[in-house]
Amino acid sequence: AEPGWNETTDVLVVGSGVAGLTAALHLREQGLHVTVVTKVNIDDGSTRWAQGGIAAVLDPLDTPAAHANDTEIAGVGLCDPEAVRVLVEEGPARVRELIRLGASFDRNSDGSLMLTREGGHRADRIIHAGGDATGAEVQRALHEAVHRDPWIRLVEHALVLDLLRAPDGRACGITLHVLGEGSEDGVGAILARAVVLATGGMGQIYASTTNPSVSTGDGVALALRAGAVVTDVEFVQFHPTSFVTSTVNSVQRPLISEALRGEGAHLVDETGKRFMVGQHELAELAPRDVVAKGIHRVLRATGADHVYLDARHLGREFLEQRFPTIVASTRAAGVDPATELIPVAPAAHYASGGVRTDLQGRTSIPGLYACGEVACTGVHGANRLASNSLLEGLVFAKRIADDIARELPPQAEPAPDTAGPGWVVPPDVRAELQRSMTRGAGVLRSADSLDATAKELARLAEQRDTPRNAAWEATNLLTVATVLVAAARTRRETRGCHWREDFPVAEDEWRGHLLHTLDRARLH
Ligand code: SIN
Repeated sequence: AEPGWNETTDVLVVGSGVAGLTAALHLREQGLHVTVVTKVNIDDGSTRWAQGGIAAVLDPLDTPAAHANDTEIAGVGLCDPEAVRVLVEEGPARVRELIRLGASFDRNSDGSLMLTREGGHRADRIIHAGGDATGAEVQRALHEAVHRDPWIRLVEHALVLDLLRAPDGRACGITLHVLGEGSEDGVGAILARAVVLATGGMGQIYASTTNPSVSTGDGVALALRAGAVVTDVEFVQFHPTSFVTSTVNSVQRPLISEALRGEGAHLVDETGKRFMVGQHELAELAPRDVVAKGIHRVLRATGADHVYLDARHLGREFLEQRFPTIVASTRAAGVDPATELIPVAPAAHYASGGVRTDLQGRTSIPGLYACGEVACTGVHGANRLASNSLLEGLVFAKRIADDIARELPPQAEPAPDTAGPGWVVPPDVRAELQRSMTRGAGVLRSADSLDATAKELARLAEQRDTPRNAAWEATNLLTVATVLVAAARTRRETRGCHWREDFPVAEDEWRGHLLHTLDRARLH
């Protein structure tokens, strides 16, 4: 489709979670005019679903070096040490700014911030809000700050389609499809001097995920179509404990925060045995990939679709006060965690990889930045450490805004042949793709399972439909799933959250990143 209308802004931010809104606010500090476009409503992304919290060194006895060490151990040799250093050293200042902006985190009776622990952390360094509603508080505070600023224009119900590029290759805007009233309805273009992708994750490529329905990999797909380099996409993190209940009939499953284990809940099998004890020195609080694998082994051995989390000994009062979101979602499904075991199983949670960036958030396309889950800055390696994701959004949003302010060129005209989406597949490809990805490219993978999924994806890619939002989303899911499966087939080892049954150990020769563009893949 050709754009039917266009407008201009200094910087275009695509996405409205922690990464996008923080970037918008920092860009405003630089005096720039910002437009934020978001696919549904401003609060509909993953940020508001985050429970556990934000990891940052705020205890005088903790150190950035210790936080870096835990991050790198969880990332199993693939973290970029410079990126990790930036994350842990700049994190505390960004958290304090968020507090000054109005975000309210839980505090002890002496007024100090309450700090908790999650998987892979060897110190208490996770702040939280409303008990287990940290993301909702972060989103609220950022949303309100954005609304207070008349120079941030917000365009909701806008699905991004493709990147516009100037004749010299620089990003200079996007095409998008806006569902709405008046002249903005339909396909249009927003021209900008720089574009920041902050579109979040791709959990919806699987049949069960903690991600909301909007997490369809739109930013990674757009970047791939534009020729950007994407990396580490095979490292999809499965959260060990999503709530298994027949009363929730959607791809998104309620999360049972790792902080519940951080506060002492145990994982048990159907006989009541704590099966993580003896598997790792941190038992239930081992890094997430280790716990997800431990659960998967039990599920395979028993044929069950869940294990249990036992939080009964924490007591009703504590559970209600510290974990109101979890208590509400389990009780709504008829499970009272104060007296009953909570059925849990792994579900797709976080894309550790994404659009490759440098420490300034720059992608391989000049003028195109990526921030938050859509990006791969190098901080997560093969497995993200718990509660480092909101932190990454906060830290790199500021770096991106600073970089943009340093070298913002004048608005360029898009080259005529760069506008408009290509082919699209029908919306019902989505459900088939989710089943196929879960079967063949989920927690456990092998050459056979990946080959079967690759064939199914190729078959789905032959279908065609007329362009509309659900078809574009299905096409984006198919694009990122295809690259993910290619990466997972290529990486013949087990590392972090990439678990190959046929290559069960981490190999030194694979200690590098697979770089992908739509037409080629390489190991670096
Ligand atoms: C959780 O609360 O368990 C999720 C935290 C995270 O994904 O970092």
